[in-house]
Amino acid sequence: MRRGEPKLTRGANRSPSCKGTCIIGYGVAAAFVLAMLYLMVSTQFSFSSSPKDSESIHATTRQRSHPGQEDEKREMEEEVAVVHTEPSTGRHRGNERYSDDWEERQQRQEKEKDTVKFSEFGGGTDDFNNVANKKLICDTSFGKYDVCELEGDARAQGGAGATVTVVSPRAAPREWKIKPYSRKYLDGLKAVTVRSVPNAEDAPPCTTRLNIPAMVIELGGLTGNYWHDFTDVLVPLFIGARRFSGEVQLLVVNLLPFWVDKYRKIFSQLSRHEIIDLEKDHGVVRCYPHVVVGYGSRKEFTIDPSLDDTGGGYTMVNFTEFLRHSYSLPRDRPIKLNHHQGSRPRMMILERTNSRKFMNLPEVVAAAEAAGFEVSVAGRPKASYDEFVREVNSFDVMLGVHGAGLTNCLFLPTGAVLVQIVPYGRLESIARTDFGEPARDMGLRYIEYAVAAEESSLTDVFGKDHPIIKDPISVHMSGWGNVAEWYLGKQDVRINIDRFRPVLMQVLEHLH
Ligand SMILES: *[C@@H]1O[C@H](CO)[C@@H](O)[C@H](O)[C@H]1NC(C)=O
Repeated sequence: MRRGEPKLTRGANRSPSCKGTCIIGYGVAAAFVLAMLYLMVSTQFSFSSSPKDSESIHATTRQRSHPGQEDEKREMEEEVAVVHTEPSTGRHRGNERYSDDWEERQQRQEKEKDTVKFSEFGGGTDDFNNVANKKLICDTSFGKYDVCELEGDARAQGGAGATVTVVSPRAAPREWKIKPYSRKYLDGLKAVTVRSVPNAEDAPPCTTRLNIPAMVIELGGLTGNYWHDFTDVLVPLFIGARRFSGEVQLLVVNLLPFWVDKYRKIFSQLSRHEIIDLEKDHGVVRCYPHVVVGYGSRKEFTIDPSLDDTGGGYTMVNFTEFLRHSYSLPRDRPIKLNHHQGSRPRMMILERTNSRKFMNLPEVVAAAEAAGFEVSVAGRPKASYDEFVREVNSFDVMLGVHGAGLTNCLFLPTGAVLVQIVPYGRLESIARTDFGEPARDMGLRYIEYAVAAEESSLTDVFGKDHPIIKDPISVHMSGWGNVAEWYLGKQDVRINIDRFRPVLMQVLEHLH
């Protein structure tokens, strides 16, 4: 529900010194701004303000998804993390509308199909209807991902167009095309056919049988971007597979062997069994008592136990515990300063190379050292990933500008501090969705530092009177492209140390 809080209250919370009057002033100003925006939007951008026009909203979403995939891998790593969280923040409302519409339509279709099904079965008893309703094989009602549960006699047949068939004597034959990825709306995903047939003879004969469940999942998508690696694949996989305690076989579409190898410690904890490249699995029919097709999570980079069914009430704290176990990381808790007087808490400062760089890193380091921290600056891992992760676990504080590197906070001890520097341009809500809320869900102490216009390189470039500086809301309204290009893509930050120092004090307080 935190996300449901009105934005104004949130903004006021962050400046506790002026609660009462500020809220009112803020409210009046905001109402004015909103009214102006409404006028602007309804004239210039009428397509996106029309709730019924789900096609064009969809089209813009897809467009946004596209550039990242065409860019170089490196750029993808740097930029796309934010581009693709976009559906769940500010402008994301359009997308929700799209999925609501879509959901409605889908549910109507499902109902129509169910009616057909029941009449084919001569109407059925109430009892039968109840069973049939409970046992819908594929749930395609959610805009982000689909999940199918095939129980009893499920058979997976690989090859170019993989098919999973469930023998389901009480239901009418049915077929779905499922993209078993956590963001089904992305371009370039492959579909798996899921079939339900009434008789075993209608299903391909088994050539191998394993008496454990299997999960059909797709890689690809946006994997390769560090944040998406976890948000789109590893967290959803934990949500779907952890319940099986390693006794599950993964059948993978779009298998990326080098990628799986990077995270082999995580994969080997989630499944003790061979990972099958489903597309190359010719001439085999693998049979299981239970197959799950698809995976996903409701929110970004976190688990919401009230929405995500993990089969065991797992939380994001459990996920980070699981990671520490997978990598045999030694530290569960950060330093406690009142117990270790004289010792210096360890701070990792993440250095970015492309955009959103610190322009005065030496000053930031000096200020942190003066405040009592032992500081290390880290760029891209030079050691192996496993060694790097171990190093991350040795820190008590992580500090960095918004970007995929902050994903490393997964390996901090529970209770450690994450400081996210939010670049200029009204990026707070994106920053919170991507890292702020997830960090809290991980049990980290989270501090946000939003840079002022004076601390942004964009002020050097455009001057303080340019709309990019004066009017970030209008930039957001003009489309995601400008936000991505300027605020995320071409901005560096020069931290005002005097303004920043209280953050360092706050970090220390959290470690007491
Ligand atoms: C999940 O985390 C909570 C809170 O840390 C803990 O109480 C619970 O035992 C964990 N569950 C499992 C299965 O580890």
